[in-house]
Amino acid sequence: MRHTLLPVAIVLGCSSLPLAASAAGNLNMICSADVVVCEHMTRIFSKEHPDIHVSMVRLSAGEAYARLRSEARNPRTDIWWAGTGDPHMQAAEEKLTQEYKSPLLDQQQDWAKKQAEISGYRTVGIYAGALGWGYNTKLLAEKKIKPPACWADLLNPALKGEIQIANPNSSGTAYNTLATLVQIMGEDQAFDYLKKLNANVSQYTKSGSAPVKAAARGETTVGIVFMHDAVAMQVDGFPVKSVAPCEGTGFEIGSMSIVKGARNLANAKAWYDWALSAKAQSHMKEAKSFQLPSNRDAEISEYAPRFENIKLIDYDFKTYGDSAKRKALLSRWDKEIGASAQ
Ligand code: F6P
Repeated sequence: MRHTLLPVAIVLGCSSLPLAASAAGNLNMICSADVVVCEHMTRIFSKEHPDIHVSMVRLSAGEAYARLRSEARNPRTDIWWAGTGDPHMQAAEEKLTQEYKSPLLDQQQDWAKKQAEISGYRTVGIYAGALGWGYNTKLLAEKKIKPPACWADLLNPALKGEIQIANPNSSGTAYNTLATLVQIMGEDQAFDYLKKLNANVSQYTKSGSAPVKAAARGETTVGIVFMHDAVAMQVDGFPVKSVAPCEGTGFEIGSMSIVKGARNLANAKAWYDWALSAKAQSHMKEAKSFQLPSNRDAEISEYAPRFENIKLIDYDFKTYGDSAKRKALLSRWDKEIGASAQ
């Protein structure tokens, strides 16, 4: 989907920090968050920067990484905003993105700054969110299935054909799930688990949040997603309950990167600085985007799943964002799970 917004002549607020100067012209952005928040944030930025014409396309994180690779010799994209950190880390390692130290870096949480440090400042954290799932409470009760509270519960034979999860090649959520299971169980055991889970999976979707949207509509019972995506369905009034797995779970550091060779570099930096500000990040919740913001002063939604209430693993972003590691895990997934899934 390509979304072009006309600049609107209203300027809202300004910062006293020496931010990157924006130039009139274009900004070509890939957005890997939910399309609703992608459009919302683009709209607000455009109001505040009426001289910059933003063209935004929404792609899942794995697809965005693949797009950057395919454009490497002739970049069309200037900035990649949002999406799970692992593919951003891989793009950084492959030098598809460029170093930038925003003057707003100091305002960010340590986990966001660490993402910048370990990537050589080619990416930065902008939000965080824990992995889990959401289930349709009505369907589960009708089918008399025990509510799944642990990863192990998802193997319950009563859930046969009742689960959706995304494909880790396209979706950052699904890759985060794969990497989480490997870190919790060990690689061979994780693939063993995924093979068993495959018997209960009806569909591997392209986008990460699609499974819980399907659960909300009653098209599936369980969707393995980031917890904030399940909460968004609850807040929308659907009979969905979000779950933090009892054994522990992984989390994402949603990230942002400027493309190497960006044609509209000044405008990419203007978005980057703006997107790290407390004011911009406080707008995310208006689009039911309930991640934890990276800016320490940004408002946190009352609905955001709080890390202190979730058993989190010490997710190794460097290892699982490593290019060779990500390729190896995805190719094993293709052979052992994907090939038998269709
Ligand atoms: O829907 C929002 C979100 O879950 C983000 O928190 C995350 O970074 C992104 O979607 C991942 O999307 P996908 O799995 O489609 O790459």
